[in-house]
Amino acid sequence: MTTSASWSSAELELLFATTTAPETVAAIIVEPVQGEGGYVVPPPTFMPMLRRICDEHGILLVADEVQSGFARTGKMFAVNHTRVEPDIICVAKALGNGMPIAAIVAGHRVMSAFHAGEHGTTYGDNAVACAAVVAVIDTMTREHIPERAERLGRHVMERARGWQRDIPALADVRGLGMMIGLEFMKGGAPATTLVDRISTNALARGVLLLSCGIDANVIRLIPPLTIPEPELDAGLDILEAAMREEAA
Ligand SMILES: Cc1ncc(COP(=O)(O)O)c(C=O)c1O
Repeated sequence: MTTSASWSSAELELLFATTTAPETVAAIIVEPVQGEGGYVVPPPTFMPMLRRICDEHGILLVADEVQSGFARTGKMFAVNHTRVEPDIICVAKALGNGMPIAAIVAGHRVMSAFHAGEHGTTYGDNAVACAAVVAVIDTMTREHIPERAERLGRHVMERARGWQRDIPALADVRGLGMMIGLEFMKGGAPATTLVDRISTNALARGVLLLSCGIDANVIRLIPPLTIPEPELDAGLDILEAAMREEAA
């Protein structure tokens, strides 16, 4: 499943012409790699196209990196795979690696829109959670976690692409770093039931899988970035066995 940037650009311009005038749009929010929607990696021209349209109309470009940020895709942020600089980046999840914290990150031009005391949250500025963030960034940098995600992701993709040779229902293997989606199709339709069966089979063997996509026909692989390699391969062995049993 791919979406061409020229198609998306034409759709946006149509939306501006028929539904929502661009001067009424404050921001375009986008996941640089789509998460719940099916682990979709856009073509390299997609983010530059959005940047151009946002600049043309004075719209803020917001990158939601809650899933894709903090080394997941093999770089610190998924936008680092593009030359695009968003106006705002939203981060959470791996930001605190288990400690409850989320943040929006932006340059002075955007942040100066807030005046002192205007933007508060009940649990904002929690010192312990902030200390966890400092430790996460320090560890990720010191232990070269983005590079590890890139290397292990390549290994997972190679194994998964090998399965496609004799499992035709495995229609697409896609991803960036350790954010990988396996899309299942049967007879031209999303194979939701097959994904359910594979998940149940894998669970009985000790591996918990999570699907995504609007038809829940994509198995997402987002192992911990610190996973020992033998454990990663043991998990993939189980997934492969479950797939071969259910999809053969
Ligand atoms: C891409 C993305 N953005 C935002 C959220 C919501 O994050 P939060 O629970 O911090 O509000 C999620 C949650 O899964 C997500 O995957």
